[in-house]
Amino acid sequence: MQVSASAPGKLVLFGDHAVVHGYPGIVTAVDRRYYVTASIGDNAMLQVRTSPDRQHELPFGALPGVQEPDIAFVVAAVNQLLSRKMLKRGLRLVTSGPCRSLGLGSSSAISVATLAAASQLFGLDLSPEEIYKMARAAVLDVQGAGSGLDVAAAVYGGTCYFERAGEVPEMLSVERLPLVIAYSGSKAGTVDLVQEVAALRSRHPDLVEPVFAMIGRICIRARSCLEEGRWCDLGALTNINQGLLEALGTGTAKLANLVYAARSAQAWGAKLSGAGGGDCMFAWADDSRRAQVIDRLEAAGGEVAVIACGVPGVQVVDEA
Ligand code: PMV
Repeated sequence: MQVSASAPGKLVLFGDHAVVHGYPGIVTAVDRRYYVTASIGDNAMLQVRTSPDRQHELPFGALPGVQEPDIAFVVAAVNQLLSRKMLKRGLRLVTSGPCRSLGLGSSSAISVATLAAASQLFGLDLSPEEIYKMARAAVLDVQGAGSGLDVAAAVYGGTCYFERAGEVPEMLSVERLPLVIAYSGSKAGTVDLVQEVAALRSRHPDLVEPVFAMIGRICIRARSCLEEGRWCDLGALTNINQGLLEALGTGTAKLANLVYAARSAQAWGAKLSGAGGGDCMFAWADDSRRAQVIDRLEAAGGEVAVIACGVPGVQVVDEA
């Protein structure tokens, strides 16, 4: 008997960084899915195969504190089950997914898929809320910080509105998202940037807290624009949010170039997505402007990624 689970990556639309400090955020699940197949293994052992030639074998007792990048999130997720005494036998896992993450939520997707596959294998019948809480705890164990926005996208899919970090999000009824997404060509260090923004807030709380509050207000307005399809207004909010992220110091010259390239091609609005410092940006563009936005982004050195948004959350398949 084996069980396979897959979970989607994510694109943060609004609320980046402010959401870590208790303000709202909006995230959409993207169809870059990560897969975990679980089967019964040797007693009290975790075996993880991350590629045909890379296999890890760890006794359950050695799991806390494993930091090897390719298995840290898998191990942290299994640890959540172990700490609740939910694993009675050894576990064998095989993971797979896109070979490049582009900063679109591989860690959270892997954590969620691990918990979903392993819990189903052992007949634990965990609710989505339980998987969300355990996967969020796993990601926090590895990273030390984070709002859980990415974990929410991996569990619930669709497009989610977060009232506050760690709470179960609300699903937004959004039919389609006219997005163009481009990778800036370099990886960002989410944890470092979250810490840098937190440090800026400690040094200048009177300046940074109002910036977070404005980002929070943008989220509230963006939510109704999204639900009502008011793309032009949404574009303006997106541009304001980008300015505020620049104020927090999370922009880069490359991301700014891509943002201006998209705007110069008449995108409704454009901003970086997530922690900043690299990874992806996105622009809102209707069908008539989409091709010109893509052309300008590519001319500016962006790697346009054709990615569906608002896709389903974690899915589990029992296999014979
Ligand atoms: O993982 P990234 O780089 O897309 O960033 C996630 C968004 C942050 O708000 C910066 C962090 C968080 O946990 O919400």
